[in-house]
Amino acid sequence: MNSQKNISQPVIEINDLHKSFGTNHVLRGFNFTLMDGENVAVLGKSGSGKSVLIKCIIGLISIDSGTLNVLGQSVPDLSQKELDIIRRDVGFLFQGAALYDSMSVKENLEFPLRRHHEKMNGGISMKKRVEEALDSVGLLHTLHLMPSELSGGMKKRVALARTLILQPKIILYDEPTGGLDPITGREISHLINEVQSRYKTAALIITHDLVCAKITTNRIVILSEGKNYKEGNYEELDQSKDSIVEEFFRK
Ligand SMILES: Nc1ncnc2c1ncn2[C@@H]1O[C@H](COP(=O)(O)OP(=O)(O)OP(=O)(O)O)[C@@H](O)[C@H]1O
Ligand SMILES: [Mg+2]
Repeated sequence: MNSQKNISQPVIEINDLHKSFGTNHVLRGFNFTLMDGENVAVLGKSGSGKSVLIKCIIGLISIDSGTLNVLGQSVPDLSQKELDIIRRDVGFLFQGAALYDSMSVKENLEFPLRRHHEKMNGGISMKKRVEEALDSVGLLHTLHLMPSELSGGMKKRVALARTLILQPKIILYDEPTGGLDPITGREISHLINEVQSRYKTAALIITHDLVCAKITTNRIVILSEGKNYKEGNYEELDQSKDSIVEEFFRK
């Protein structure tokens, strides 16, 4: 019997992370842990380094110092080939939906499967996987549409389906509700919850949308001055008298 099976493991571990661009010291000793199965929001103002953080995690930009482990591997020490392998397990929902405009919804969803073609050998056809992923975001009927025929909220859903199709162990969401009206934003937040409980992934949700953070997570980390400035659940942070925290929670 494997008694360790249910013990949660860290899937992302970041210690004392620093990243500068010239004299712009963006991340200044950021610490963070994401446990398996956990949903955590990182809340920060525009320009605070949220997208930089997410790009460091998947090795798209190099770090200056600190340690950064993803699924037990030290990202700064990985070769390009090893990074490609780990990126199959780390789904990344870009800020803006970033669908390929010249491809249909179906082709957009097939793209990651073709790119990581070894994932197609599970006995399940590509067609079935595309349909399943699209169905899980409620958009099966858009299979043959082009991105230009979709609303902003639908594009986000398709982008989420494209992330899910590789069945990642972790999903990194960069502003999943950005650019959407509040109602559509809430719908996307609830969809993220559904997806998280169905696919049982861990999620890091980067946002400046407090409503999204409240709906999708039970732990919120405030990124300010390049650090994990404050951390807690929604109620704890809501009662904080700290002026930076209050800026997010002011009603
Ligand atoms: N590749 C880059 N080269 C130089 N500077 C960069 C680069 N990427 C980001 N920066 C700088 O790092 C800082 C943080 O940028 P980042 O994109 O992480 O902000 P953000 O918190 O995601 O903001 P937003 O909420 O507007 O998306 C900004 O000052 C930005 O100009
Ligand atoms: Mg950003």
